[in-house]
Amino acid sequence: APRRVLVTGGAGYIGSHVLHALTDAGIPAVTIDNLSTGRRAAVPEAVPLVEGDVGSADLLEQVIRGHGVDAVMHFAGSIVVPESVEKPLAYYRNNTVNSLTLLDACVRLGVDKVVFSSTAAVYGATDRVPIDEETPTAPINPYGASKLMTEQMLRDAGPAHGLRSVILRYFNVAGADPAGRTGQATPTATHLIKVACQALLGRRPALSIFGTDYPTPDGTCIRDYIHVSDLAEAHVLALLHLRRGGESLTLNCGYGRGASVLEVVRTLEEVSGEKVPATFADRRAGDPPQLVAGADRIRERLGWVPKHDRLDEIVRSALAWERSLPG
Ligand code: UFG
Repeated sequence: APRRVLVTGGAGYIGSHVLHALTDAGIPAVTIDNLSTGRRAAVPEAVPLVEGDVGSADLLEQVIRGHGVDAVMHFAGSIVVPESVEKPLAYYRNNTVNSLTLLDACVRLGVDKVVFSSTAAVYGATDRVPIDEETPTAPINPYGASKLMTEQMLRDAGPAHGLRSVILRYFNVAGADPAGRTGQATPTATHLIKVACQALLGRRPALSIFGTDYPTPDGTCIRDYIHVSDLAEAHVLALLHLRRGGESLTLNCGYGRGASVLEVVRTLEEVSGEKVPATFADRRAGDPPQLVAGADRIRERLGWVPKHDRLDEIVRSALAWERSLPG
């Protein structure tokens, strides 16, 4: 039987794009998802979906043994920063404790390869531009801390148990599958490009532009937006790297260039030919002015070549996906 990769959280936004990328590459997968935020329809038909919790050691053992799993990609987790401030222990349970259970199952059952979804939030409020992987980690919220703890477990389990890992630190993931098979489907998502598309389509009140007095050229915050399909491809390359026997890596996922909130809004207006209803608002707590990835290492180490790195393509795909959702 072919070796399968276990993808946790494969019914979610990023996990489902990765399942499609794996399927397109002919790599067999199986996913565990509790469908708390994910959708069954996002999972490709060729991929078995096991409905349940990643925190269950019994379920993990059943799936890892039953499907001949040799590697894990771990997406399942909670991702809302302000919620993590209000419910820190829920974040440590869902993100850190469940990751511990998963890694423990890997070690016990001989799975020695892990690709882990981490975040630029591990860097905290750094003023480095760009932010390379040597930037000291200093998360400023429980979300970032919960992810950094899992990174630490992976780094320690490596030498102790022969577990090799690729830790991917995502910057601002956006856009949708160009073929329209999946996209960001959480109606209450807070991400800028999602919210701006919803506002454009009249599915939300006007977009609030949080802060216009930042020390940036146009006064609004700058982020490194990465197309979710390029990110998915990076995961496939990370898996192939580990299957070739490659060493553990920690890699930023971004393009190394930023766009401001106003540039995003303008781009959406250009691709749609319509006006985005928007109002200027106060700064949102905890937003650093500028987060741009130092992004050379992933290209060097994985041979990653982005194919969708134009802001207009990111925004266009997000809007097409949004239009395809029931209003
Ligand atoms: N923004 C608005 N209006 C909105 C939403 C966002 O003006 O309605 C602005 C924000 O103030 C920020 C930028 O758009 O300047 C991007 O905001 P997002 O909420 O889309 O993304 P963040 O940069 O806050 O956070 C993202 C992920 C986090 C991750 C972080 C790490 O959502 O999970 O990147 O870089 F931790």
